[in-house]
Amino acid sequence: MTQALRLGIAGLGTVGVGVVKIIRRHADLLRDRTGRPIEIVAVSARSPEKDRGVSLKDYQWETDPVALAKRDDIDVFVELMGGENGPAKASVEAALASGKDVVTANKALLAIHGQALAEQAEAAGRAIRFEAAVAGGIPVIKSLTEGLAGNEITRVMGVMNGTCNYILTRMQSQELGYNALFEECAELGYLEADPNLDVGGIDAAHKLALLSSIAFGTKPNFDGIEIEGIQQISLEDIHQAADMGYRIKLLGVAQRTPRGLEQRMQPCLVPSDSPLGQLEGGTNMVVIEGDAVEQIVLRGPGAGEGPTASAVLGDICDLARGLLIPTFGRPAVSLKDAAPARTGLPAPYYLRLALLDKPGALAKVAAVLGDAGVSIDRMRQYAHSESTAPVLIVTHKTTRTTLDHALNGLNATDVVADDPVALRIEQV
Ligand code: HSE
Repeated sequence: MTQALRLGIAGLGTVGVGVVKIIRRHADLLRDRTGRPIEIVAVSARSPEKDRGVSLKDYQWETDPVALAKRDDIDVFVELMGGENGPAKASVEAALASGKDVVTANKALLAIHGQALAEQAEAAGRAIRFEAAVAGGIPVIKSLTEGLAGNEITRVMGVMNGTCNYILTRMQSQELGYNALFEECAELGYLEADPNLDVGGIDAAHKLALLSSIAFGTKPNFDGIEIEGIQQISLEDIHQAADMGYRIKLLGVAQRTPRGLEQRMQPCLVPSDSPLGQLEGGTNMVVIEGDAVEQIVLRGPGAGEGPTASAVLGDICDLARGLLIPTFGRPAVSLKDAAPARTGLPAPYYLRLALLDKPGALAKVAAVLGDAGVSIDRMRQYAHSESTAPVLIVTHKTTRTTLDHALNGLNATDVVADDPVALRIEQV
């Protein structure tokens, strides 16, 4: 029989257990598809005694994931521990140094250290695969790297954090505020150990950094992403956006502009009737635009045991078939430094201001915007009971730099009570 592909799996949380279950359940199917058996040789996790709902008795245990990564009797090291440094980084480096291929779901590790790890892998003739790191069960890495390899990619966009999309769509449908939904997500176990990774936009930005690299041939540049979370979005924003025919989404956008690579992860208004506007709950969506294909839309579960394990197995099967594709779709040494561009392309913006309710306040706002070169498209002041009056403004198209200048001007007046909320209206 053809030689088995032998795995060492580090991390037996939700995803690791899901991978073990699929390998046990579909042993014959996986062998038939790849032409060789796929076997788990050894595993590593904290708490070996814990009941994980799947039999682990056939596998050897290592307490140290680095020792697991170095074992002579594995071909592929499957890293499912998470974390951008610590054991995840040390064990992936050890695996590559000892001639193993790596499969990982670790977006933070690759967004921060992906360039160095990819160079290490490719110098050793090995592969790092990470389908599960971006948008869970959606095969977006494979689509970009392989299916769309004949395109010049012009834009990649996506909703890639299910927790944020769950919160934003429940605000819309259930009339619940952000804080109540944050608590609900905590109770449901949706939040990362550090919730700011989710609601602060960081988890989704890690994913965008990886897609950008593949799409544009640049080194992953997480630090070049403009990131804003969803914490400041109010029910009022949700209502006002809906009233104008929009939904608010935590949207990642990466595109080449004449001034460099623009990468941003921020709450935006998108048309309610667009595929992104209609995306409900914890589902993810990635939209890819290329010169030949025009536009494709990928939609599916972005997290969870089955979907994420499905993506890990896709990578494992490719390695079993001998498919060694460079980590970011082209040789790592050829990836360019991304010249990060502050959001340059003009767009309309939605502004919400809390104005002190006194004579001349609106006139001062209009003057500051006018002086900065920001033109008002629509403006509304609505009912209020406190000493501040909520004012909503939709601008004509303007650049983010011009808008920031105007926002600084507004903050410097004596009539704006809180930091204004400013959301880009994105044409998708
Ligand atoms: N916490 C992420 C989400 C899943 O809510 O989409 C893992 O990246």
